[in-house]
Amino acid sequence: MAQRKKISVIGAGNIGGELAMLVARRELGDCVLLDIPEKADFARGKALDIMQTGALDGFDGNVHGTSDYKDIAGSDVVIVTAGVPRKPGMSRDDLLSINLKIIRAVANGIKENAPKAFVVVISNPLDAMVYEMKKVTGFDPKMVVGMAGVLDSARMQCFLAMACKCSTKDVRALVLGGHGDTMVPALGYCTVNGIPVKQLLPADVIDGIVKRTAGGGGEIVKLMGTSAYYAPAAGAVEMAEAYLRDEKRILACAAYLNGEYGYKDMYIGVPVVIGGGGAERVVQIDLSADEKAMLDKSAEAVRGLITDAAKL
Ligand code: APR
Repeated sequence: MAQRKKISVIGAGNIGGELAMLVARRELGDCVLLDIPEKADFARGKALDIMQTGALDGFDGNVHGTSDYKDIAGSDVVIVTAGVPRKPGMSRDDLLSINLKIIRAVANGIKENAPKAFVVVISNPLDAMVYEMKKVTGFDPKMVVGMAGVLDSARMQCFLAMACKCSTKDVRALVLGGHGDTMVPALGYCTVNGIPVKQLLPADVIDGIVKRTAGGGGEIVKLMGTSAYYAPAAGAVEMAEAYLRDEKRILACAAYLNGEYGYKDMYIGVPVVIGGGGAERVVQIDLSADEKAMLDKSAEAVRGLITDAAKL
């Protein structure tokens, strides 16, 4: 008998709630929304609210709120949002020690209960958290990825579309590197329907967009007092969907590198083929000398975080 897919979301906060809504709306499968025991009822409430939306908007699928890891058994995908978000003035790296403890607990829960799942980590600081997830679970690195590049690229696409006064649908952007101030917009690969953006916008406008993209998360934290959640959830769902439907999409993701781009035993944002085998293949692209130098700097920052995490 055919079975529905199962997608579990760990952390029923702002991103987790939006994720469960997207999973249900797109009818990707049944969804489990898990939070800590103190917030189990909160998760149950959100789950019911989403299922009742289905009666209005015409989607079905179960959404189940819980704090019991046994409920994630058999998950095809687990998306991890558990952790503390930024407050104004904080960098993602400031979250390291708090979120590290949380990610270790979550990783053990996934390891014991959903050992076959494709795991997408969203918690920050992203590159260190996804590294820890792989380390604690011991899963095949193809099955553990981090969501950041799709979000940073989407932010850049949005700013480019605003500057070009055109639809975001026609804009492609590729942002590589760590999910932080050192991220690397690969400008040669940013186009509007194939037209390099360098032909459409003056250099100073592009420079402004590059800076705004790197600070794109911080801009929202400053405005809202907490991290963004709609676009991060949409980014993770895009990755989950590529896996579940074996789409072979090329998406910028934090992937485990074993020599690609000259880096070993670390996660960093690069273009990756996502399909039924997980993060099937890292795509190696040509970078300018400046871009490679920026990527090296970003990798160094990520390496520093991983080293700090190992001491905590
Ligand atoms: N297990 C499960 N859930 C947990 C755990 C845990 N051990 N620890 C914390 N949580 C839950 C919290 O109870 C909360 O409901 O994670 C949820 C986080 O939700 P929010 O505080 O609303 O944070 P959100 O905006 O969703 O961001 C979550 O993603 O982008 C990153 O920087 C962001 O690290 C942050 C994470």
